[in-house]
Amino acid sequence: MNAPDRDAMPKLGFGLGLRPDHYAAILADAPRVDWFEAISENYMNCGGKPLQWLERIRERYPVVLHGVSLSIGSTAPLDRGHLTQLRTLAQRIEPAWISDHLCWTGIAGRNLHDLMPLPHTEEAVYHIAARVREVQHFLGRRILLENVSSYVDFAHSAMPEWEFLKAVAEAADCLILLDVNNIYVNSQNHGFDPLTYLRAIPARRVQQIHLAGHSRSGDLLIDTHDHPVPEPVWALYAEAVRRFGPVATMIERDDHIPPLAELVQELDHARAIAADSLAAAA
Ligand SMILES: [Fe+2]
Repeated sequence: MNAPDRDAMPKLGFGLGLRPDHYAAILADAPRVDWFEAISENYMNCGGKPLQWLERIRERYPVVLHGVSLSIGSTAPLDRGHLTQLRTLAQRIEPAWISDHLCWTGIAGRNLHDLMPLPHTEEAVYHIAARVREVQHFLGRRILLENVSSYVDFAHSAMPEWEFLKAVAEAADCLILLDVNNIYVNSQNHGFDPLTYLRAIPARRVQQIHLAGHSRSGDLLIDTHDHPVPEPVWALYAEAVRRFGPVATMIERDDHIPPLAELVQELDHARAIAADSLAAAA
C-alpha cells in the first residue's frame, strides 16, 4: 500500500457535512469553513445537478468523500459496481480521503439503509480486515472506517467495541474516523466509560473526527443528528483533541438543518475547544 499514512495526509482543520440546503449559500457567502464532507452515494452515478454543485464547491474547498453503503462487515461479496462508481467519483473530485462505516448495511441483495452493528469477535476482525484491504487495493489508497452508534449488543461478542475498532484498523492497516458523538451515545446505551474508549484508540490512525447531536428515546440515546452538539459530547471532544492532537473535525447535521451561518458558529465553538485543549496539553 503506497497510500500516505495519517502524518502525510493534509491537515484540513474544521469542516461541515455538505448538505443540498447549503449549496447556494456556500458559493455565495464563502463561509468560514475549511473543508466539506460529501456523502459519496449522493454523487455516484447520478451526474447532473448534484455533481455540478459538488464540482463547483470542490473548486474552492477541499472535499472528503463519506460513504454509507460499503457494507464492509457483511458476508455478501463486496459490490464491485459500487466500488467502481466510487473510484470514478474519486478520480473526478480528488478527495483528501475516503471513508465509510464499520458496520453492515445489507445481505443477499437487500439494502437495509441503516448502519447495523457487528459482533465484536476475532472472526469478524479477520473477515473485515481482508475486505478493507481489498477495497484499499481497488481504490489505491487507505480508507477511514467510522465507529457507529448501536442499540443492541451481540451475546457472543468477545471484546469491547474499542478493542474491535482498534483490531480491525491494525489488521487492515486502515485509518479511523472517530465519531465522538457515537462513542458518547454507545457509552450511555451500553454502560461504559467513554474515556476508556478514547484511551484504547491508537492516535496515529485517527484521521478525522465527527461531532453531532443525538436524541433520547426512553432509556436509549439515538444518533439522530438533528440537534446541536450537546455539552457531554463537547467535553469528550476536548479529551479527544488532548489525546489525538489537531485532527480534522467536522459537524454532521442531517435533520432540522439550520441556516449555514448557525453551523459555522457551532464550528467556531469546535475551533475554540480544540485550541483550548491543545494549549492545555502543550
Ligand atoms: Fe458520524
